[in-house]
Amino acid sequence: MNELNVVVDSAKAAFEQASTPAALENAKAMFLGKSGRITELMKGMAALPVDEKKSRGAAINIAKQAIEAALNGRRQALADAELQVQLQAEALDVTLPGRQRGQGGLHPVSLTLERIEAIFGSMGFDVAEGPEIEADWFNFTALNTPEDHPARSMHDTFYVEGGYLLRTHTSPVQVRHAVQHVKKHRALIDSGGAMPEIRVIVPGRTYRVDSDATHSPMFHQCEGLWIGENMSFKDLKVVFTDFCRTFFENDDLVLRFRPSFFPFTEPSAEIDIQFPSGPLAGRWLEVAGSGQVHPNVVRNMGLDPEKYIGFAFGMGPDRLTMLRYGVNDLRLFFDGDIRFLSQFQ
Ligand code: PHE
Repeated sequence: MNELNVVVDSAKAAFEQASTPAALENAKAMFLGKSGRITELMKGMAALPVDEKKSRGAAINIAKQAIEAALNGRRQALADAELQVQLQAEALDVTLPGRQRGQGGLHPVSLTLERIEAIFGSMGFDVAEGPEIEADWFNFTALNTPEDHPARSMHDTFYVEGGYLLRTHTSPVQVRHAVQHVKKHRALIDSGGAMPEIRVIVPGRTYRVDSDATHSPMFHQCEGLWIGENMSFKDLKVVFTDFCRTFFENDDLVLRFRPSFFPFTEPSAEIDIQFPSGPLAGRWLEVAGSGQVHPNVVRNMGLDPEKYIGFAFGMGPDRLTMLRYGVNDLRLFFDGDIRFLSQFQ
């Protein structure tokens, strides 16, 4: 093997050994650099006789080109390898399923409230709200429950300074709403015209000092108020019966209006329902309090009780939710356990 082939082969071997671009550039210097082997060989030509110079020069050039080709080949190979490593490191598996965002949903009690609003909405009832921190006047006194009234003890609650308390029921909004309504139609009422009926429901949170499997210190109520002329208990019965049958999707549901007492209604009745079949069949289940709005309360609304008759009811949406879904512990609604809540989505 001639000397030039040896140089070419050792250059190829050196390039092959270089495993990084920097090492490759060092190896290049050894062969193609200013004091590299090829330059040395060129310098060696000076001593040759003229007729040999030409062929020697051509041979060295061929060797040089072979070395440069090997160098470029190796450069490309190293660049390819580097790219390969990078691609692998950044590889995306596009077949992996995407990260999903859990879909939230409404709380079962919210579902019930929406349902109540939709059903009463279809019967022409508006929806009103009132403050949860309520004045003593609206929560009790205006509802015919003066300070020394024994019925106050059934509504023990959390008192706030300044004559305020956490409302024990949604009934205070009866008076708040009626007063606004009357104000709006004052001129009409005073001129003896027909005031548009008050038909409103009031869903919301209420508070009492009470806590066990069926009572929670915070619970929900939904009040209903209907005031007009020439009304009777029959209207309340029809509307509430219709509501219950629609809510429970059961036309054979039976209702019972059981005489009771509330300071703000007279006469008063607890409303019980009974399912004709199913796991709850045969039992009377209390779902609401109700009655004809007491004349004193009608007066506090700014209306003449001789002319205007009102009916009111107050139901427990938590209770309705338990009955509808067969939940036996009220506290499950307020624990915030996703395993429980997700069953209602
Ligand atoms: N506010 C009563 C309660 O919380 C329920 C009720 C409302 C009764 C309206 C009669 C009329 O017990």
